[in-house]
This record gives sequence, structure tokens and C-alpha cells, in this order.
Amino acid sequence: GCAAGAAPPRLGFIGVPTSSADTVVVPTGYVAQVIAPWGEPVGVAGAMPPWRPDASDTAAEQALQLGMHHDGIHYFPLDGARRGLLVMNHEYVDEGLLFPDGTAGWNAVKVAKAQAAHGISVVEVERTADGWRLVRPSRFARRFTAATPFAVGGPAAGHALMRTAVDPTGTRILGTLNNCAAGMTPWGTYLSGEENWAGYFDGGPVVTADQRRWGLRATGWARWGDHDARFDATQHPNEFHRFGWVVEVDPMDPTSTPVKRTALGRAAHEGAWVAVTKDNRAVVYSGEDAAFEYIYKFVSRDRIAPGGARANATLLDHGTLHVARFDADGTGRWLPLVHGQGPLVPANGFADQGEVVIKARQAADLLGATKMDRPEWLAIEPGGTTVYCTLTNNTARGAPGRPGVDAANPRAQNTMGHIIRWTEQDDFDATTFRWNHLLLAGDPANARAEAKGTIRGDAFGCPDGLAFDPRGLLWIQTDASSSTLGRGEYAGLGNNQMLACDVTSGEVRRFLTGPVGCEIAGAAFTPDATTMFVNVQHPGETPRDKSDPADPMRFSRWPDGAKATRPRSATLAIRRSDGGPVGG
Ligand code: FEO
Ligand code: CA
Ligand code: CA
Ligand code: CA
Repeated sequence: GCAAGAAPPRLGFIGVPTSSADTVVVPTGYVAQVIAPWGEPVGVAGAMPPWRPDASDTAAEQALQLGMHHDGIHYFPLDGARRGLLVMNHEYVDEGLLFPDGTAGWNAVKVAKAQAAHGISVVEVERTADGWRLVRPSRFARRFTAATPFAVGGPAAGHALMRTAVDPTGTRILGTLNNCAAGMTPWGTYLSGEENWAGYFDGGPVVTADQRRWGLRATGWARWGDHDARFDATQHPNEFHRFGWVVEVDPMDPTSTPVKRTALGRAAHEGAWVAVTKDNRAVVYSGEDAAFEYIYKFVSRDRIAPGGARANATLLDHGTLHVARFDADGTGRWLPLVHGQGPLVPANGFADQGEVVIKARQAADLLGATKMDRPEWLAIEPGGTTVYCTLTNNTARGAPGRPGVDAANPRAQNTMGHIIRWTEQDDFDATTFRWNHLLLAGDPANARAEAKGTIRGDAFGCPDGLAFDPRGLLWIQTDASSSTLGRGEYAGLGNNQMLACDVTSGEVRRFLTGPVGCEIAGAAFTPDATTMFVNVQHPGETPRDKSDPADPMRFSRWPDGAKATRPRSATLAIRRSDGGPVGG
């Protein structure tokens, strides 16, 4: 219930039950429309190759079409809630779906198409009497792929560890990879995190301690190094340092060069989210989707300038990076990652600030930061200094030889995940904070004590996406892996889903359930909250032999149904039939 005098309950919809059906379910009175599936041309004038249902599109065609595995998304208004740009991430690819014959005959042509299906898309959308549609052609339509040139800003730009044979200056990097969450800046740009990029590289027989700390293995899962030497770390070891950054894109300027912002630190960044201090400096929060890794905060040196993206073109290149320590007494501290301070000195392997940001994990290790249970999305509560963060899960917590539980990550074998929140002391640039848990996820019916949830309302597991809407409702999206969905401790939770939480009462209500094998990823809103855009990623995913292209069709035909040739990630535009605010 609500506190006396507070606004009426903000969860104005009737929740939906869990589902294991191969469809999207939303509450009565809502309509979810599929737009922008993988393969649709983004709308570059004169270059709009239609998607071929047998997946025989070439790499060059794919580079003009929406990529695979839609993730974080944001709406940039061109005309309020009627017309705007959708900018979205394409996290990775499923080779069994991307090619007519899966990984058979793996070669350079297939690697090039896989690279073209990664990255970021910019599409223009408008709302008509029949709903939302892509505007094509559009002068804004654009793709950023694993081959697009990026500039580099911040202390690692030009650093010796960033220089390669093809880029001896260390300032021009081809591509962005494994982009997950979306954040946006007050100056109108889009931030995207390069998440678990290590699996795109092959480390060969000898992997150094530094490379191992970052997850490099002898052979990466993507097998790009077989046919693109850039991803063979035995030949080009520094290319590995050129990923793991937050990238900034200006969707409003189709000629702009995207930039990797190294001052924010290198990590398996899910994404990055911007708060503004009272004196108008930018504070950027980020986590990394990796077990036992960290939560970071960058505080800009300079104030946000009026004048949009151009006026703030180097704002994120100067400032102070910190990492979070959560103490058992409910307080916490932001520890600065500054070269020359404390242990961050040459004797410990940090020659300069560039090396501190490139080796942010090792720096955070030395500072005694708190190892978290896969910190993914963050969300900044409107009107205060409270920040929320999803911790998806960490089944290795408390395992032999691994870190045990701590106050912030209180469950051994954390299969269900949790959501933590902290309130900064006074302002976003504070060095101290107070924290608690919004909730521990999981079905309260689970037998194992550590898997029982503390949710008030509808149960879920594995929170990942997280966003406040313009009305202040907190939206939670789940990403339980397809190897566990519907089984064991997840048996009662159904397919991955999306829920809304009224953080004043703590109540959680299930709003949407996704098709089989998908995760729900990314939420964006029109400024009036009458449309919510949500991504459905990897419908039909199943642990399987990726060389079998027919296999996923056994599990999902979403969204094309009877005429499907393969399941496709796609964006949903969700509206209330009466035109009111979504969730209200
Ligand atoms: Fe890409 Fe952390 O999900
Ligand atoms: Ca995610
Ligand atoms: Ca995830
Ligand atoms: Ca996923």
C-alpha cells in the first residue's frame, strides 16, 4: 500500500500470469506491435536490400539491415511522441540462424557477415493511425558494425597498449562488439556498453595473467580469429585492449564519428547511465556483466555545456573514475582509480592513467572493491540521488575457491539474482553512500533458502534490464538462461518477462511475457509514456549445436508465426488501447 498522502498506486494494469507459450502476452487493454525485426533494411536511401527468409543475405546487405539480437534501445524524439529515432544495440549473433547452413564451411565471408550483424542501428519511426512503422528512407538511418571506424577519447587514446599494426596511432578502432545496454546523455547522445568481448578473441596456447583476468581463452566462442587476424591475439595482442569500452554515438548527426570513451574504464560493460550533479557535471554509472566484477562511477571534471553533442564532444574524456565498495553496515564508498594514488603505481603495473583504465579490473582488485553478482543495468531514480542496479545471478558465489557471500551479495549459489540500490551522500559526485536491497529475486516457493525471493508481488528470476519510465515506474526485465528456464528453481517462473515496480511501495507486477527461449531486453519510452519500446532478444534460443540451422524452429516461430523460416529478434511498440500512459 501507499504511504498516507502519497499519490495513488501507479501500477494501473492487471498483471499477467507466467507463460511458456511461444508468444508475447501483455495485459488486457494493451497492444504489442512487432516492428524492426532482425534483417529489415534500416532505410539508407538507395540501399535497402530486403531481408531474405533463407538468410542468404550477404555481409554487405546485412550491414544495411538491422542486426541480430536486439538489446538496449532508446527513443530520440524528432516530433514528440509521433516521430523519432530508435537507436538500438545488437549484442551478438546466432550462427545457426544467421546463415542458411549454420557454421558449415566456416570462412572469412561468414565472419564478415557475423561482424555486420553486430553493433548498433539507427532507424526512424513514426506513429500512424495503424501504429508505429519504420520511415524509409531516412537521412538518419545508419548502422555501426564490428567494422565501423571509431575514434578514441580519454587517457587510453594513443596509449602504447592501444597501438596495432593497422593503427599505429592507437586512436582509430574498427568496430564495436557485444553491445548490451543503452544509456543516453543530457546532451542528446547514446551510450552503449561493450560487454563480454573476450570471447571474440583467440588467445592461443599461452594466455598471460593479464589476458586471463579479462577472460581470454585459447579459443574464443566466436571463431573470428580463424579468418580475421585482428581477433587472433597471438598475432595482434593489443587489439584485445581496444574493446570493453563505453561508446558514444550521436544519432542526430548522420556524419558523426562514434567515440570510445576510455576515461570511463575498460570492463565487460553492460551499459552506462548518466546522472547530473547540482553544479551540472556528468556522473556516469556502469557495471559489468561478469561474475565477481565491479560497479564503476565516473565524475566529469567539466560542466555540461549548452549546445548539445558538439558542445560536449570531450566532456566524457576528463574526470575521475571510481569503483564501489559496499560495506556490511549499509554504507559504501567510491574508491578513486587515479594513477599515482594508493597502490596504482608503476611498481604494481600501472605506468600512467591510460594503463589504469585499460586494466581497470586489476586496479579495482588492488583497491578492495566489492565483487558483485553480475551487475548489469543501472537506473537513476528521478528526483533524487538513488541509483538501482540489477545483479543477474552468480551461481559460483560461495563455491569452493570462489568468494563467499557478503552483505551486498548475500546468497550462496545465487541462481535468482537481486536488485541493489544506493543513495549518494548529498549529490551524485559523493564519495560515500548508503545502500540496501530493493528485493532478492526468486520464487518464494523454492525449497532452497537462498533461492526464495523477497519480492512483494509477482515472482521472477534473473533481473537484467532496468529502467525508470517518465512517470517514475521502475521496469524490470529478466534474462534467465535458456538452459535453466522452466526447470528446477525456475520451474514456476515461465518464459522471460517484464515487470513494473512501484518503488515507493515495493510492489512488483508482471506486465509482459515473451516467446519461448527469448530474453526481454531494453526499454524506451516516448516522452509522454504512451508508447513503450521493448526488445525481444534471441527467441528460440536453446543450448544446441549451432551447425544445425533448423533446430531453433522446433522451439520458436516468433514473430513470423506460420510463415516463419527462423525466429528473429524484434522490437515491440506497446501502447494502451485508450492512448493512456503505459503501466498507469
Ligand atoms: Fe548482454 Fe549482460 O547481457
Ligand atoms: Ca543484459
Ligand atoms: Ca543478460
Ligand atoms: Ca541473452
